Amino acid sequence: MHNLDAAGHVRGESQYLDDIPVQRGTLHAAVYGSPLAHGVLQGLHLERARRAPGVVRILTAADIPGENQIGGIVPDEPLLAEGHVHFQGQPVALVLAETEPQARAAVKLIEADISPLPIITDPRVAAAQGELIVPPRTFRLGDPATAWAECAHIIEGTAENGGQEHLYIETQGAYAYPTDGGGVRVHSSTQGPTAVQRHTARVLGTGMHKVEVDVVRLGGGFGGKEDQATTWGALAALGAYVLRKPVKLVLPRHDDLRMTGKRHPYTSDFKLGLSADLKLLAYEVTFYQNAGAAADLSPAVLERTLFHACNTYFIPNVRATAYSCRTNLPPNTAFRGFGGPQGMFVIESAIAKAAEQLGVPAYDIQRRNLLQDGQVFPYGQRVQDCNATQSWQTAAEKFQLEQWQAEVDRFNQTHYTRKRGLAVMPICFGISFTKTAMNQARALVHIYTDGTVGVSTGAVEMGQGVNTKMVQVAARTLGISPGRVRLETTNTTRVANTSPSAASATADLNGKAVEMACQALRARLMRHAADELKLQYEGLEIRDEQVLDAGRPADTDWEKLVSSAYWKRVSLTENAHYATPDLWFDQTQEKGNPFAYHVYGTAVVQATVDTVRGTYDLDAVRLVHDFGQSFTPGIDRGQIEGGLVQGLGWMTMEELIYNQEGRLLSNALSTYKVPDLYSVPAVLDVEFLETPGHPNAILRAKAVGEPPLMYGLGAYFAIRNAVRAFRPEARPAFSAPITPEKVLLNLHGPLPTTQPVTSAGSAAVPAS
Ligand code: MTE
Ligand code: HPA
Ligand code: MOS
Repeated sequence: MHNLDAAGHVRGESQYLDDIPVQRGTLHAAVYGSPLAHGVLQGLHLERARRAPGVVRILTAADIPGENQIGGIVPDEPLLAEGHVHFQGQPVALVLAETEPQARAAVKLIEADISPLPIITDPRVAAAQGELIVPPRTFRLGDPATAWAECAHIIEGTAENGGQEHLYIETQGAYAYPTDGGGVRVHSSTQGPTAVQRHTARVLGTGMHKVEVDVVRLGGGFGGKEDQATTWGALAALGAYVLRKPVKLVLPRHDDLRMTGKRHPYTSDFKLGLSADLKLLAYEVTFYQNAGAAADLSPAVLERTLFHACNTYFIPNVRATAYSCRTNLPPNTAFRGFGGPQGMFVIESAIAKAAEQLGVPAYDIQRRNLLQDGQVFPYGQRVQDCNATQSWQTAAEKFQLEQWQAEVDRFNQTHYTRKRGLAVMPICFGISFTKTAMNQARALVHIYTDGTVGVSTGAVEMGQGVNTKMVQVAARTLGISPGRVRLETTNTTRVANTSPSAASATADLNGKAVEMACQALRARLMRHAADELKLQYEGLEIRDEQVLDAGRPADTDWEKLVSSAYWKRVSLTENAHYATPDLWFDQTQEKGNPFAYHVYGTAVVQATVDTVRGTYDLDAVRLVHDFGQSFTPGIDRGQIEGGLVQGLGWMTMEELIYNQEGRLLSNALSTYKVPDLYSVPAVLDVEFLETPGHPNAILRAKAVGEPPLMYGLGAYFAIRNAVRAFRPEARPAFSAPITPEKVLLNLHGPLPTTQPVTSAGSAAVPAS
């Protein structure tokens, strides 16, 4: 089955927020954001903006009828700044005007009196000053302190990664209007409709029952709209509520880039101990997460970093500590992988450093330490149904790893202006929200009297194909054609208290609920058929819309059965609730069973570096991935390709640069480079590993949204290996992204490498 949205997208007919027809009298909003990254807000000058053409009203914190608070995990984030400002671009005032250009023009006339306070952009500086979002957390296994004595080799170092802009094609936005009885309806481009509903109700000082949130689809979210769509939804709703008029707020790209948070930069210290035969014995790591100015989802992201600190390796003695550091940058947030990639970059850096010091290929260390069934993760969960070795072996055989490496070596012996590097990147990613309670979902299924079906869930379609998957699940379970099934918008009045569409778990959680609802409907219809036709219930089934009795066609089909059930007053509606079984986590011990299952895979990446210019090509990425029993292979392959390229971009070219004043300098696509069609490796080979899948996965098709991003980490190490093929004494810092500038410095710059990198994880640029 093709992606349901394919035709609509190609024809430009698919509806996004900005395509929703606006009502007469709609006002357009624009946001005034703080010009300084930290200070006391002494006063606002709104007079000139108020007199500007078309301006109807300007709202500030003083106009909020309820609580000025949108913090999701920690209540530390006002909707509109009050008293202090904490980052550049922090929303301070909302201009409402007759047209969008008028609103944006008026914003430029606003001025603020702010007395500046010291600005922190570096997480290590924040940690030293005790500026932590939440108390630090430590995961432990065994006892590294005593294990060091047994290690033949001990490697120490630092690894840093930059942030990443989500660059969803559709910018953040919302359209809100008053509804009968003092309510408000919000169309929001959000991954978390319930989050928008909850915080809008809080800001308006009303109940959640008066706020309806509806989502058609997103032009991409990638985590950037899990929590951070709330601001714009609540602001539009505030305007609609105060003025009793429709209000539309869509961020211009430039505002979206500078006002919203991104993937967290991290700076981390590691110490890795190995035995003489390259077994990993002990690992100590300290993560400093650059959280930005408010908690947002940072504590949860931090937790997932700890869960993925050892990637897909078993290390018997582990101590991993993580600090969430408050800085004066926009609050950083969820981004595909959710802290996992940051944790995995550090262990891969440690292994690369060990390989280089011991003079062995990194893949020798990686391969010898892959997880196996019966072992235990540092957080207490037992390793089960582990495909780490199977995916590695399959990749090594299919892609002839040894010969491939030999070819790369031969190439390097005969070439000087180009050098090649190879890296293997195995992954292990835990599927579930790490907050156990969030692993629940509901579905509402109506069968209409003509036999068509409407399905509502909490799942948000953001390009990942979840709607197509839900239709497949409903059609398969009911035994009917997918053409009869319609996926409704995601709406808080039809499916309430939803978890955000995130954690790669959307299809599993919502799909299981759809499956349960459809199973109940099917059973009810079969019972009705048994009564009507005087047949044994046990022998009845429905396949391809035909009712079968003991495998032979009975005297009714789907349409007739539905119609006759209606006339016999049999309910044709079902609501189901699903909660992933056997999940728990005890934060006091940092142990439990947090994940429904894990996804594994192995990628091999080849890069060629131009040793004169420092530029490079990613020639090939060939990977073996554990999809389980994929029932939408086209969509799942698309997720692998998209996730991989997003990971490649993060590791190579996407460089977020904030200056010491907390101003984003790489604030346009002329300065912030993202992968395009030409960045896609010439060879991109995605192989499906033969596995039975997992019973907790929907129809045994494993979650696929986030895991492939981490294959992209291989690019960093492939490029690094190519640099060292040219200059073996080079020791490129573990500082992602590995831009052509950094490559050039490592090829020809001074040794040992001294790169202009701050521990904020972004290039240091003096305040301009
Ligand atoms: N794919 C597309 N096309 N657009 C997106 O915004 N988000 C990613 C991933 N794939 C995203 C995407 C992220 S961050 C997650 S968590 C999952 O999709 C969410 O959807 P799922 O749970 O259905 O996999
Ligand atoms: N993953 C993604 N999003 C989340 C999570 C998680 O584990 N927890 C809360 N939001
Ligand atoms: Mo994805 S980062 O869990 O939205």
